[in-house]
Amino acid sequence: MAEHETHSYDVIVVGAGGAGLRAAIEAADRGAKVGVICKSLLGKAHTVMAEGGMAAALANVDDRDNWRVHFADTMRGGQYLNNWRMAEIHAREAPDRARELEAWGAVFDRTEDGRILQRNFGGHRYPRLAHVGDRTGLEMIRTLQDHLIHQAVEVHMECTVLELLKDGDRIAGAVAYERERGRFKVFSAPAVVLATGGIGRAFSITSNSWEYTGDGHSLAYEVGAALQDMEFVQFHPTGMVWPPSVRGILVTEGVRGDGGVLRNKDGKRFMFDDIPENYRSQTADSEEEAWRYIQGDKNARRPPELLTRDHVARCIMREVREGRGSPHGGVFLDIAWVKEKIPNSRDYIRKKLPSMYHQFKQLANIDITETPMEVGPTTHYVMGGIRVDGDSQMSTVPGLFAAGECAAGLHGANRLGGNSLSDLLVFGKRAGEYAAAFARDNSAVKVDDGQVNRATANALRPLDGGGAGGPAAEGPYQIQQELQQFMQELVGIVRREDEMKSALDRIAALKQRAPGVAVPGNREYNPGWHTALDLRNLLTVSEAIARAGLERKESRGGHFREDYPDKDPEFAKFNIVLRKGGDGSMQVGREQIPPLPPELAQIIEEMK
Ligand code: FUM
Repeated sequence: MAEHETHSYDVIVVGAGGAGLRAAIEAADRGAKVGVICKSLLGKAHTVMAEGGMAAALANVDDRDNWRVHFADTMRGGQYLNNWRMAEIHAREAPDRARELEAWGAVFDRTEDGRILQRNFGGHRYPRLAHVGDRTGLEMIRTLQDHLIHQAVEVHMECTVLELLKDGDRIAGAVAYERERGRFKVFSAPAVVLATGGIGRAFSITSNSWEYTGDGHSLAYEVGAALQDMEFVQFHPTGMVWPPSVRGILVTEGVRGDGGVLRNKDGKRFMFDDIPENYRSQTADSEEEAWRYIQGDKNARRPPELLTRDHVARCIMREVREGRGSPHGGVFLDIAWVKEKIPNSRDYIRKKLPSMYHQFKQLANIDITETPMEVGPTTHYVMGGIRVDGDSQMSTVPGLFAAGECAAGLHGANRLGGNSLSDLLVFGKRAGEYAAAFARDNSAVKVDDGQVNRATANALRPLDGGGAGGPAAEGPYQIQQELQQFMQELVGIVRREDEMKSALDRIAALKQRAPGVAVPGNREYNPGWHTALDLRNLLTVSEAIARAGLERKESRGGHFREDYPDKDPEFAKFNIVLRKGGDGSMQVGREQIPPLPPELAQIIEEMK
């Protein structure tokens, strides 16, 4: 057996973004012995890419807001495929989680009378996003981290989980390796919370950094958990497009929330051209009305730039495809124009959007207070993930919990911006609470040495010359890059049956090649080795996205099919679910969505 350290906990939390940290805090608070395993250094998480704010119906800026409106907005944004219980819990509990974060030290921007300030975001009926300039996710991580270090929680940094372990049907722990020294660590625990974030690195243009390779999705799938809604990938409408080295970096929706407008190369505000029927009555029909809304006029309707992300991203693609895009294949996002309206516009922009100002100045040599930005869609988020119970966040495997982006349900077919940060806190807390209870109420688990041996032997194979044996074996980067490129082209914003089938053929071919990759060097800080070990996860989530995308023969939310461009009411009745079959193949199924209880159905009806 390969040498390894062993650690034993009541609860292991894999991932240290907002959901992981909140889960760890809660589990520790309830008396569990908790270990946190994070792939990066503590504090480096995709949570910081939710820049514009955290959605919570605090009603500080518009007193018409409440949890019922937030619930209805989330369901409409998700096109009614959401797990309605999660949408209800989220809308009810988000205000408490925001206030709790404030009590723990988060320094939110303020209204004039000293309450948490809230800003506009796409698909939210009222200004709802509690924020800290355009650095809200960063402030959330800072606050949670400060809180966590006062708890008795052990943190294993730069440590990547290779496999989850099972004891019979139950989860029993995890095998991981430490990136710095390449040492293996075996963790035993009766409860494991996955909070590993998303899958953005399966695509070539993404706001996600190197860690987001679908690890939690794939680890859960391998031990028998079900995945759902994997066809729904969110392409955030505004990522940087130029220069090439920064393509995909996020440009917060807060820019549009604070008055930024989208224009094509002819200077036309093209978002007025296509307003979906179900948002028409709430969308401004003139530039003048849209500006009044930004200024807080409660009788004005929202600007079309604040329609949902799926729609805005497709409108941008249309402009580009029809030859009205910007020089580098995007469109223009203009906040500088507010100088026509406000005398001190430079201060306004720099105060509201300090990070965007510096990002464009430093990376593109553009002063956004004077010049429009060039932006285009970037892979940002996956609505699909591990199928969980709405209350407890437990997956279909006893003892295995999931929270945050790697869990499915809350967002349905499309997530509203800002609902992610609140999701992390609401369901991170719940996952921690229920995982601690599960560990307390169930007997100890036994780690099976055979499972540990298999995991470590597989992990060492690329260093031993790969499965193909010998120096002729290829390296992992070629496979990673091919996958990212064809996923972007064939399973991206606009999809077709023939293209998704072709992607699946190519994934099958890469699955044959991946186990044979070889890397030079040893186990100490070897990025080639780490990339080789990420490949299985990337291939699993890519296959899940393409298979679920083929199965959903309609267009809805983040899933748009050129060959089925309309919504089909039949497809509103179920979620697409994926499981690993006995022969190792991916099985695609459909799970009926339970009917809404009458009180929730009534809320949706009233809000229409
Ligand atoms: O645009 C943004 O600031 C991103 C927010 C989010 O994804 O929730």
